[in-house]
Amino acid sequence: MVDVSEVEWPVKRWAREIDDRLSAAGDAGPLVNIKADDRREFDAIFLGGGAAGRFGAAYLRAMGGRPLIIDRWPFLGGSCPHHACVPHHVFSDVAAQLLLERTFSGRLWFQDIGGKTASIKAVVEMFREGRTGPHAFMNFQSKEQLDLEFVLGAPARILDAHGVAVAGVSYRARNLVLATGARPKPLAIEGRNLQGVFDYASLVDTLDYEPGPTALVVGGGKTAVEYGCFFNATGRRTIIASRDRPLAMINDGETRAFLIRRMEEQGMEFWPGSELLALTGDERGRVESALIRGPGGEARVESDFVFLAPGLVPNSEEARETLGVAVNADGSIQIDSRLRTSVPDVYAVGDSTGAPMEMFKARKGGMYAARNIMGEEAHYRLGEYPDFMHTHYEVCWLGLGEEQARERYQNVVVLKLPPDNPDGDAVALPAGDRVMLYAMMKPELSGFQKLVVDGDSRRILGAFHVGYGAKDGFQYLAPMVRKGLTVDELGEMDELFLNPSYFIQLCRLRAGSKVLRGM
Ligand SMILES: Cc1cc2nc3c(=O)[nH]c(=O)nc-3n(C[C@H](O)[C@H](O)[C@H](O)COP(=O)(O)OP(=O)(O)OC[C@H]3O[C@@H](n4cnc5c(N)ncnc54)[C@H](O)[C@@H]3O)c2cc1C
Ligand SMILES: NC(=O)c1ccc[n+]([C@@H]2O[C@H](COP(=O)([O-])OP(=O)(O)OC[C@H]3O[C@@H](n4cnc5c(N)ncnc54)[C@H](OP(=O)(O)O)[C@@H]3O)[C@@H](O)[C@H]2O)c1
Repeated sequence: MVDVSEVEWPVKRWAREIDDRLSAAGDAGPLVNIKADDRREFDAIFLGGGAAGRFGAAYLRAMGGRPLIIDRWPFLGGSCPHHACVPHHVFSDVAAQLLLERTFSGRLWFQDIGGKTASIKAVVEMFREGRTGPHAFMNFQSKEQLDLEFVLGAPARILDAHGVAVAGVSYRARNLVLATGARPKPLAIEGRNLQGVFDYASLVDTLDYEPGPTALVVGGGKTAVEYGCFFNATGRRTIIASRDRPLAMINDGETRAFLIRRMEEQGMEFWPGSELLALTGDERGRVESALIRGPGGEARVESDFVFLAPGLVPNSEEARETLGVAVNADGSIQIDSRLRTSVPDVYAVGDSTGAPMEMFKARKGGMYAARNIMGEEAHYRLGEYPDFMHTHYEVCWLGLGEEQARERYQNVVVLKLPPDNPDGDAVALPAGDRVMLYAMMKPELSGFQKLVVDGDSRRILGAFHVGYGAKDGFQYLAPMVRKGLTVDELGEMDELFLNPSYFIQLCRLRAGSKVLRGM
């Protein structure tokens, strides 16, 4: 055990400690930050110090309570900065940059990179070396700025609804908050454990060779497409083999079609209706081919690099077995709107409670659990939320897609860019920050955006954006749309022209007409 309660480590000192512990084979014992002079009982143990546990504990502490966070990793922040969101954003930035460089290769100041392959290994290693920085900062911030107590670097065992044990020491609290996250779903297929077969976690932890010319990706969700676009952008043949149609979560057909068209132009191959049957390896135990059954029969893909993205499994087994907490068929922990599980005094937050597994839900869940633990009656109802993912672009969506809107409303009006016209999307719109070179030299890559409006009430029903730089806008647009934002109100806003999202301008061009028309 290392007692850190009396020391004030700067960020670099934390980074050294974390690096040492992640690379050391031995057991250094937990890092314990508990104030010996505070005799109050803990209001809650947050089992898991990821987004859900850390934000929940911080909120509870801010309310005057006493939380204790326990995490098996020697850092706070959880899977997002270690395995998930942060590497995904690094890879998606690389994909966007390489799209730019490949598109303008040999023009202006761009080097001629035609035919060149970028190194996946170098990008992964760059991330692996850099990720300790955010980990160290989160330990520093949690201890010195948020006044949080924690035990890190050793797994916990649940004892009962009020207690856990870590490295032989038991800790007790009035409540237990399960914030244990989720893990990659294993695929029960032959060859799953061959070298060269990765999921999002093992890719960043273990990749130690340069993948060959073909990347096979299994799955059709965000992870599959985001990582697939990165592999493709590096110059590799990339196949996305999915059971269903890819990007099914984007609820507007035209937006989805635009994205698939752009990805196919970059050489990505979509194999919907495919099932991975088996992976075969060479004599060294390294994957060399995959057998896939699709609508046209069986096909063998030669590849030394297979990325599996069949989703996540909530970490709920121990809570179910030890406490009898009720779980759903997919393993997610059942909770009510106050984040309470089926067991008194036990709460659950974040990915352990199932899809959607997103940071805002994890953090807000933690915050609502804290409020309830501290005596408020606080209900968290997910409702409509803005969503996003990456391809080579940033893609944001909100509310109803055009097809859904037409099922529910008589008079649906669509405002979009580029407009429907005989030149298709070869119009240099939308033009905005980060797509100006495309707008001038390769207009079809400028992006796509669309507002879905109820022509009768003039309310915005849905919004879709493909491009860069609209994500912040969507965060603020979402609550306004929920409250009934109209085209007239949107047309009243002040745009910071040339803004990436044209919604304000489009609304202003039409808001003057009593009978709303599309464009
Ligand atoms: C590839 C990928 C990309 C993503 N990108 C985004 C994105 O761009 N934006 C976004 O909003 N979301 C994204 N997500 C989702 C996001 O990462 C999760 O929703 C979020 O990290 C969940 O936080 P959490 O606290 O619930 O779980 P975690 O962060 O996983 O925290 C759980 C913690 O519990 C600890 N733990 C579990 N069991 C024990 C135990 N027995 N003892 C001690 N500790 C234990 C773990 O060590 C871990 O630190 C992405 C997910 C993936 C897979
Ligand atoms: N915000 C972000 O950018 C971001 C990025 C990544 C992940 N996330 C979140 O993290 C969670 C997980 O995302 P994810 O994309 O990893 O998983 P996911 O959304 O669950 O998608 C899994 C994909 O794998 C397929 N699949 C499942 N089992 C399979 C099998 N046995 N064989 C072949 N294919 C199979 C699914 O097909 P079916 O549809 O047929 O089941 C689906 O296409 C989601 O909640 C997501 O929102 C967020």
